[in-house]
Amino acid sequence: MPAHILEQNREQGTMNPVTMKDKKTFKLDGKAIEFEDGDTIMDAALRAGEYIPHLCHNPEFTPHGSCRVCIVNVDCKQVSACTQPAIENSEVDNSSDEIMANRRALLQMLFVEGNHICPGCEKSGACQLQAVAYYCNMLSSHFTHFFPQRSVDASHPDTAIDFNRCILCELCVRASRDVDHKNIFAIDGRGINSHLVINSSSGKLGDSAFTASDKAAHVCPVGAILPKHKGYEKPIGERLYDKQPVSIVGDVAAYEQDEDC
Ligand code: SF4
Ligand code: FES
Repeated sequence: MPAHILEQNREQGTMNPVTMKDKKTFKLDGKAIEFEDGDTIMDAALRAGEYIPHLCHNPEFTPHGSCRVCIVNVDCKQVSACTQPAIENSEVDNSSDEIMANRRALLQMLFVEGNHICPGCEKSGACQLQAVAYYCNMLSSHFTHFFPQRSVDASHPDTAIDFNRCILCELCVRASRDVDHKNIFAIDGRGINSHLVINSSSGKLGDSAFTASDKAAHVCPVGAILPKHKGYEKPIGERLYDKQPVSIVGDVAAYEQDEDC
């Protein structure tokens, strides 16, 4: 969600006591948040302009609940805000030390499972994983790096895929299936062997029906799906998250289609 929408929602989310009487609400860090039947905690929070850290969530797609970075505590039970239906009068903790520490641990695991070499990454400064890690005050990887041996697929004329950076959020899977209606991507394997695969005879992107104008080309929260021919166009210091945090700026996917981040 872009910054101006978050800000607009934040202003509109300031509720007046008259309308609040008839609306269902829950408390997010002590602040009353209105919701409608069917809303998840994430839906209602974003509409009210409140930020809950997240990676695999994008309001355009069915929630997936895989990254768990949106973990919140609801009446003493930890759940993912993007999949948990809002419950009237519940107390949701989105920012306690315990919740932030759990988020940091999840982020640290994501960092060590792949090869995220931020200083050399084209996406640095416009990477949602990096931005959320900053927001959650992740200062080190903590765990031992796996340094997996993953390939880069540069077979497509306009788009490259660096599997080293994939965090298995399935946003490209959902975008290709639900918006592009092409089913180019899927996750194969289980547990630590889970990996992104391409639906083509050779397993290469260049042999698939993928095009750079596909929705799936513009939803990746990290530097795994990258456009070719325009590397490092925007200097470090002027990128999406260089001046404002992800809690203000919102999702990288909200900017990708319109501009080069
Ligand atoms: S390539 Fe990007 S969008 Fe697709 S699953 Fe990996 S991280 Fe998510
Ligand atoms: S954003 Fe909720 S589980 Fe990933």
